Amino acid sequence: MVDYEKIIKEYGTPTYVYDIDTLLERISYLRSKLAGYDLVYAVKANTFIAKSLEENVDRYEICSPGEFDICNKLKINHQKMVISGVYKDRPTIENMIKNYDDILKYTIESVSQYELLDELTRKYNRKINILIRLTSGNQFGVTESEVEELIKNHQNPLMTIDGIEYFSGTQKHSLVRIEKEIDHLIEFVSHIENDLKVEIKEIEYGPGLPVFYYVGDEFDEDAFLAEIKRILDKITKKKVSLEIGRSIAASCGSYLTKVVDMKTNKYGNYVILDGGINHLVYYGQTMAMKIPHYEILPKRVGQEDTYNLCGSLCTINDFLVKNITTQLLQKEDVFIFKNVGAYSSTEGISLFLSRDLPKVVLNHTGGGTKLVRDNIKTSELNFPNNLI
Ligand SMILES: Cc1ncc(COP(=O)(O)O)c(C=O)c1O
Repeated sequence: MVDYEKIIKEYGTPTYVYDIDTLLERISYLRSKLAGYDLVYAVKANTFIAKSLEENVDRYEICSPGEFDICNKLKINHQKMVISGVYKDRPTIENMIKNYDDILKYTIESVSQYELLDELTRKYNRKINILIRLTSGNQFGVTESEVEELIKNHQNPLMTIDGIEYFSGTQKHSLVRIEKEIDHLIEFVSHIENDLKVEIKEIEYGPGLPVFYYVGDEFDEDAFLAEIKRILDKITKKKVSLEIGRSIAASCGSYLTKVVDMKTNKYGNYVILDGGINHLVYYGQTMAMKIPHYEILPKRVGQEDTYNLCGSLCTINDFLVKNITTQLLQKEDVFIFKNVGAYSSTEGISLFLSRDLPKVVLNHTGGGTKLVRDNIKTSELNFPNNLI
């Protein structure tokens, strides 16, 4: 349980709170529903909880030098890392191959990434394992014929091709689409195995598991995951790893933002919050039209009114919720938006208007709360250095 009153008193707003108990319960739940599959945490969803997952995920998907830097400083086991990402720059990859003999797994997103790793493994006599990312028809990964060519021409004994990586998008609700993807992957992999006489040992698949953010959008997740498992079980005799970000991280997070001003005009009641869409991201642009899960402190019973909840950016798009009917509001009331553990802290347009980044607090029943990032002044990031 998160003691929001205490957190508000101690840390103020705007603040993200990530509840580690909820996170670990979520992992156990996903493990129980997707038994037999490795879980790969896509670090991009939330870097602050990465360390807390160390005993609970099989691997970390790292897609940039910055994500590597964070995980490395957090002393996350290198053997649990898969170095991924559409742009693998030479200095970063050379540093890894040269200096980290315990980083074992890399993905290949392009022919030139293959060539880079081929060159560097030979140069430093370093053994690695690779997954070739198959494209889903965009800038990521390589085509089927490129996968075939890479495998056919592969001659580097230092690089073992473990298998295929495939990710086609996030927040996927359609089981039909997921089943089609898996059927196609099975077909493609068996074609490779039969025609090229190589074994594909592993498929790393990103199912893009959905999170239902809004009131009324609830779904039977047990049944949904049972279907996902049935579909994945069609893949036989291979290790299957599931790259997941959103579905692991979302439920543990809440975002606390305070009412700082209120006004009424002929179009309605407007509430100005000290946060905004620079900090709060669910998915896509639908946000303000729907009602997310939230609480207000202090609670008041009785009369209600309808409000537009706005952030503190200079844009008419900065609506957190439109036309919400709720308890009568006053300045200093705090909204607690739920399910914000994935992507909010990493995907928000957080530099806009040079507003400070929120604090980040980890909550743990055993250890109480811990401030893991103080506010950061984005005015310093937006400042033109060496000018005056
Ligand atoms: C390659 C890859 N794998 C996994 C993920 C995580 O997706 P999700 O958060 O939908 O689980 C992403 C997200 O962008 C991704 O690009």
